[in-house]
Amino acid sequence: MTDKKLLRALAGEKQAVPPVWLMRQAGRYLPEYRATRAKAGDFLSLCYNPELAAEVTLQPIRRFGFDGAILFADILLIAQAMGSKLWFAEGEGPRLSTITDAAGVAALRPTADIHETLSPVYETVKILASELPKETTLIGFAGSPWTVATYMIAGRGTPDQAPAHAFKAADRAGFAALIDRLSEATIEYLSAQISAGAEVVKLFDSWAGSLKGEDFTEFAEKPAARIIAALKERHPGIPIIAFPREARERYVGFAKATGADCVALDNSVDAAWAAEHVQKDGCVQGNLAPQHMITGGQALVDEARRIVDTFSQGPHIFNLGHGITPQADPDNVSRLLAAIRER
Ligand code: CP3
Repeated sequence: MTDKKLLRALAGEKQAVPPVWLMRQAGRYLPEYRATRAKAGDFLSLCYNPELAAEVTLQPIRRFGFDGAILFADILLIAQAMGSKLWFAEGEGPRLSTITDAAGVAALRPTADIHETLSPVYETVKILASELPKETTLIGFAGSPWTVATYMIAGRGTPDQAPAHAFKAADRAGFAALIDRLSEATIEYLSAQISAGAEVVKLFDSWAGSLKGEDFTEFAEKPAARIIAALKERHPGIPIIAFPREARERYVGFAKATGADCVALDNSVDAAWAAEHVQKDGCVQGNLAPQHMITGGQALVDEARRIVDTFSQGPHIFNLGHGITPQADPDNVSRLLAAIRER
């Protein structure tokens, strides 16, 4: 058995002090991140620069000693590798060329070609695998097919994913073909990250909450199950975290339906409910509202302790329910770690 706390939780071990890392832990709330990003130029140049991407991944590990280090990259790089145009408008978030019909899906580049664009990401993983402290677990990641598709179809982030739902309603087969292509590419992308040294991979389905009923089964659960099965076949024992954000009652049974070793909970989920209905199937991660990293104080400490206690009867990885925001105070991260670890 490994000494790494995060891997032990993923293997199903209950720990008095859970391992901890934070979504977006490398980011704009850290002055050292802002300095490195300025050196790289724009955000995408940082993602594709292995030395600088490794540097920003390491910054929060040096500062806080998290148990997990998440590769610095973005879920939308795969869209670019498949042929979508991608850019980040300063202060506005991602922009992409749009895919509006089956012809747009058919025009995407072959899956085998994605590595041409994504090879710097594998280089970043290799650097990290050799530079991380021995107790720190390296986490690779990709977006889930549905979430990446919502950006490829709309050309930007959307509050309700309306353009993707419209495509699905107008041409279900054409839409399914896009999910299929993304599933295939995601298997190759994550497999390459694992070969380069990622010890865990996480699938981010940030917009899973807008899929209902049969659509959730078809376009959130089944693609995740396909990707996880393929990765576990190629890399026996590789642990996988799935994050079907805002899945509500569909969190129940998600680990079983997909084969994920751990399910990440957003902050709309009641912890006691999740301990009973989700953690019974294995490890859970997450749940602290990111807002606490801005507001801090005793409320942060109380809430962190409540989450640790609520999930203390099974395997648990401490994390937020969504990414830490640029307004967060780094001192609150230190307070959070002290509250979790001084027990
Ligand atoms: O530290 C980490 O978590 C690792 C790196 C990481 C980033 N994005 C860096 C990033 C990870 C795992 C992601 C995932 C990601 N990217 C998701 C899924 C998780 C989620 O938040 O729901 C999504 C939807 C994206 C797409 C994306 N990237 C958006 C919508 C934006 C703009 C919003 C924002 O926060 O500015 C990004 C940009 C982005 N990705 C930043 C970072 C650090 C900020 C860019 C900057 O430095 O200007």
